[in-house]
Amino acid sequence: PYGLYKRLRERGSIYKGSILKQPGWFVTGYKETAHILKDPSFFTRIPLPESTEKYSHLKQIQSKMMLYMNQEDHRKLRLLVNKGFTPKQIAGFRPLIEEVVDFLLDELIVKEEFDVVSDFAFPLTSLVIATILGVLEEDRETFRDWAALLLQSIDFSRSHKTLEASDQLAEELSEYFSSLIVKKRAEPGDDLISLLIIENDCTEDELISTFILLVIAGHETTVNLISNTIHSFLKHPEQWEVLKRNPSLAGYAIEEVLRFESPTQLTARVAMKDTEVAGKHITCGEQLYLMLGAANRDPDVFDEPDEFLITRKQVPHLSFGLGAHFCLGSTLARLEAQIALSQFSKRVHTYNQTKAEIKWRPLTGFRALEELRITVQT
Ligand code: HEM
Repeated sequence: PYGLYKRLRERGSIYKGSILKQPGWFVTGYKETAHILKDPSFFTRIPLPESTEKYSHLKQIQSKMMLYMNQEDHRKLRLLVNKGFTPKQIAGFRPLIEEVVDFLLDELIVKEEFDVVSDFAFPLTSLVIATILGVLEEDRETFRDWAALLLQSIDFSRSHKTLEASDQLAEELSEYFSSLIVKKRAEPGDDLISLLIIENDCTEDELISTFILLVIAGHETTVNLISNTIHSFLKHPEQWEVLKRNPSLAGYAIEEVLRFESPTQLTARVAMKDTEVAGKHITCGEQLYLMLGAANRDPDVFDEPDEFLITRKQVPHLSFGLGAHFCLGSTLARLEAQIALSQFSKRVHTYNQTKAEIKWRPLTGFRALEELRITVQT
């Protein structure tokens, strides 16, 4: 996507046009993106057309997701769910994450050759999110399959076929979570579902939508962050050397991966009133596409924006958004990725890609590897 961002940037930091038949404002400037994200007069909105009868399950569920709520409705639900994502609660997951990463690496290092996406990042993140939610052990395999498909429902490249599948899945998942809620009501555990049931401030629909949103937002994006991390070092062996010499740079390295290969490349807003951004007149009702991956490479903010440099000390990327919808799971995603990278770099001396070609998934809103097969030397 970076070639496209460059061409768009040449037309200005905010440009009116049409890409992939989607008309609207395309924003590549850092300052403009940050401004729009922070200004509450730009709303988030369900990306499906409101008029059609189709995809009713998906629409019903999305209508109660905080990601698509605004103002007071959003604030109310967000404050409630925040209770399950305090820094202290997230820090409590460290031992579990360390244990899972170690367990996976023990197996993979013996195998020598494996797929980073499906053998390492995916099992780690799905176990963590399933544990946080309180998904029962016996359901975890099915749960993992659902997670992969659902991401497509919020991507801009979604087709009728993927939407049909997501709609069906949305129905299955809402049935699943509604029966899980019944079980947790009878026998609460030490998990987010039980916590929100006990708080008793959400409607059942809000609870179900929140759980599904967490599966979508919290799972694949973190898989992509971990996979993109291993991929970025593969493409920049000199930075791998820097990390090997200075393991304490792991945290900075993750911030640089977030900037350089952001798992979320795009988000959208609608103007709720006539306004101006960077001297351009935006009319109420117009759609804006915020290219987070472009803002992260804005040369006005980052020196050598197209270089991957883990020694950067200031990396104010926009990969987790900003403002009211700032990512709820950023602390968790950072923790998982840092532990994964630290343990991987401690135990692996060098690694190479097994296949010559690396394939990215055909998604516009996300930077996601199809697979990343590597051979490791310890
Ligand atoms: C929101 C990115 C991981 C849950 C967001 C937004 C971004 C983002 C850009 C804002 C969207 C917008 O304003 O339009 C990421 C990235 C992740 C990640 C890059 C991993 C590297 C997670 C995790 C969770 C999570 C682990 C939860 C377990 C959420 C939720 C929202 C959100 C619930 C909606 C917040 C709201 O509407 O108030 N994320 N996310 N994310 N994220 Fe994440």
